[in-house]
Amino acid sequence: MVSYKELGLVNTREMFAKAIKGGYAIPAFNFNNMEQLQAIIKAAAETKSPVILQVSKGARNYANQTLLRYMAQGAVEYAKELGWEKPQIVLHLDHGDSFELCKSCVDFGFSSVMIDASSLPYEENIALTKKVVDYAHQYDVTVEAELGVLAGVEDEVSSAVSHYTKPEEVVDFATRTGCDSLAISIGTSHGAYKFTPEQCTRDPKTGRLVPPPLAFDVLDAVMEQLPGFPIVLHGSSSVPQEYVDMINQYGGKLPDAVGIPEEQLRKAAKSAVCKINIDSDSRLAFTAAVRKVFAEKPAEFDPRKYCGPARDLMTELYKHKIINVLGSDGKAE
Ligand code: 13P
Repeated sequence: MVSYKELGLVNTREMFAKAIKGGYAIPAFNFNNMEQLQAIIKAAAETKSPVILQVSKGARNYANQTLLRYMAQGAVEYAKELGWEKPQIVLHLDHGDSFELCKSCVDFGFSSVMIDASSLPYEENIALTKKVVDYAHQYDVTVEAELGVLAGVEDEVSSAVSHYTKPEEVVDFATRTGCDSLAISIGTSHGAYKFTPEQCTRDPKTGRLVPPPLAFDVLDAVMEQLPGFPIVLHGSSSVPQEYVDMINQYGGKLPDAVGIPEEQLRKAAKSAVCKINIDSDSRLAFTAAVRKVFAEKPAEFDPRKYCGPARDLMTELYKHKIINVLGSDGKAE
């Protein structure tokens, strides 16, 4: 058993309470390789923003869970080297799908876990979530749960259709499970294709897809039921068109990729939404930078020469999110 406290990590409790009061959200960035992690920590250290490092089941399979945990531990030291005296870094399991997986993360030094039982019937979701909460809370590890179903594909998590969270269920769910935060479904979706062209309109000038707005009425109703309770938004990449264009320009093929407009996330961040999950945007930045190098310098074969620019572009992206979308800069001085 390793406690996250020995690793210099923190849980989400205080972080979320401050974020709700202060009207901003904490960035939750997924990582599965060194360059992503370096970029996240550099961006967080330079902006003094609290940050959540997210590890999905797919990332654990890809990179090895032990290595990822030690990388997160190293990230705390790296942050200090960068001059961030008291880094506020959470190591979080994204979309845990079983009690065993959540338990192994708690035992291994994670400071926060998500149990995603949202695809199960309501009572089963409650029972499994409560089991994880009862275990995790013994070690002061915070637990995120989910009600409602997001559409989209993300590693092993996928659903063809979304079901908005039912506001009338949230009090019962939060009370009976004891979860610390609740991921809700209000129209965000995983991946780089969040909406089909049929769900969107098209901007006549640019020809780009314009996605439908998020269901802020559902968010408002949830907040009315659970005042001051930390709400989480998954599937919140904006799919920046400059990266999509770069990818397409340099030989890629991402037609009609579309995300959540940043103004809508900014609006959500000012409410009880205190954790916003972003993964696809980082994948797009990485891919765009690598494709550019490959297209312009076909003789290049040193990975540092294409992963380096990818890391720089991701750092820029993370800083932009922190400062201009989530508003969490300067909140972890
Ligand atoms: P995106 O695919 O929109 O980046 O969402 C990531 C996410 O929600 C991770 O849980």
